[in-house]
Amino acid sequence: MVKKDLNTLGYPNAPKIVTTPPGPKSEEIYKKIMARIPLIVYGSNPASPVSRLIWESAKGDTVRDADGNIFIDWTAGYHMANVHSPTPVIEAVSKGASRMVNTANWSFDLRYKAADKLLEICPSEFDTVVIGGGSGTESTLAAVQAATNFTKRNTIVQLATHYHGQHGTWQGPNIKSIILPSCNCYNCAFKMEYPDCGIFCAEFVGEAIKPPAGLSARKSSIAAVILEPWARAHGTPKGFLTKLRKVCTENDVLLIADEITSGMGRSGKWWMCDWENVVPDILCTAKGLTMGFPGNAIVTRKEIAAALPPGSGIHSYAANAMVCSAIIATIDYMNELDLVNNSDKVGKIITKRLLELQSEHEMIGSVQAKGMNIGVTVVKDKASRELDREATMKIFLKWFQKGVLNYGYSWTSPPLCLTKEHAETSLDLLEESIKEVEKE
Ligand SMILES: Cc1ncc(COP(=O)(O)O)c(C=O)c1O
Repeated sequence: MVKKDLNTLGYPNAPKIVTTPPGPKSEEIYKKIMARIPLIVYGSNPASPVSRLIWESAKGDTVRDADGNIFIDWTAGYHMANVHSPTPVIEAVSKGASRMVNTANWSFDLRYKAADKLLEICPSEFDTVVIGGGSGTESTLAAVQAATNFTKRNTIVQLATHYHGQHGTWQGPNIKSIILPSCNCYNCAFKMEYPDCGIFCAEFVGEAIKPPAGLSARKSSIAAVILEPWARAHGTPKGFLTKLRKVCTENDVLLIADEITSGMGRSGKWWMCDWENVVPDILCTAKGLTMGFPGNAIVTRKEIAAALPPGSGIHSYAANAMVCSAIIATIDYMNELDLVNNSDKVGKIITKRLLELQSEHEMIGSVQAKGMNIGVTVVKDKASRELDREATMKIFLKWFQKGVLNYGYSWTSPPLCLTKEHAETSLDLLEESIKEVEKE
């Protein structure tokens, strides 16, 4: 099969700014929405011009707004639409829905087919998939429930700044969380320098999950450590995942990798954990799993999944025909477009250029990027490493107004089909934005 040229997926001639965004039509529609729905509940900030943009439609790695501006997208919606308007996935979902929209408790062939398809891209240690019908939050809830039931322990270790869903931390009567420092090398909680630190932050987790002296691991209260294998804007140092896996195994504690954002090819391999050949006990996925259609899954081993109580993970929308179809079609389409390699290849071009910008500009304190997970920290000066929130907002606003859609802060996550050409144009515009803010 001839590989489809990624350049043909998006709107032509991006970026194209016909009126400074958000333009008059965006502002008008935004006002109407705000009058009826507090848009803020969607994480939108009315004070931010970036948030007031109204999307008209999206294709490939581009987004068209209500005023006819066309942006190169560095958000993928919210790190999930790895190709905007993916025709084969839309067709598959539509076909699934026309067979039957939902069956809830009754089963059908697409469930095992979607599970098999997902297992094809996972490490061979996994043999079981639990498919949900909604958000990523549900998948981390299912993972934690499986881990606590399986180990018969009630405490989950989380890392500060790692996000696992709407529930925040687990502080209920049955499950509790302990929050430990994250692996943030640029602003290390332990004031150490990588790699001389020997990845002390992972050792620290190891100490925290050790059973109290005199007790066997089985009597510890820690069920699992959950983390984002790529820790958002500050990233994850090489070796951290390996060390974390080791301390979890030594202490008979499960490792849950929340790959909802870092997975499905975003890092340049199917899973961020693959970079270190680390196999977690439970892997959570959503977002890119279905290219943004509602749907999630946990991938694990039979004995762990069996610890889920009957009926758990079962809700009206779990594993419906649309989700299962979306999973199958997404993975097939990603293979057809070779998107995981594109993420790696274009991600490396982006990283190289960002590191050059970092060496040339006092404001660019840190660059942490892996594939299409890209964090750029804007600082007051390199010596203090103090975050400059105002300059951050200014740079990302200018970048947006020049035609590159971003969140308005220092983390970006483009669709995996971002073309080399669009990446290079975007970086030229980022450089222009940095220079303008520097002058100001
Ligand atoms: C790593 C991670 N875990 C969990 C979630 C929660 O997913 P959802 O918003 O679909 O509930 C998110 C959402 O951004 C995420 O990035």
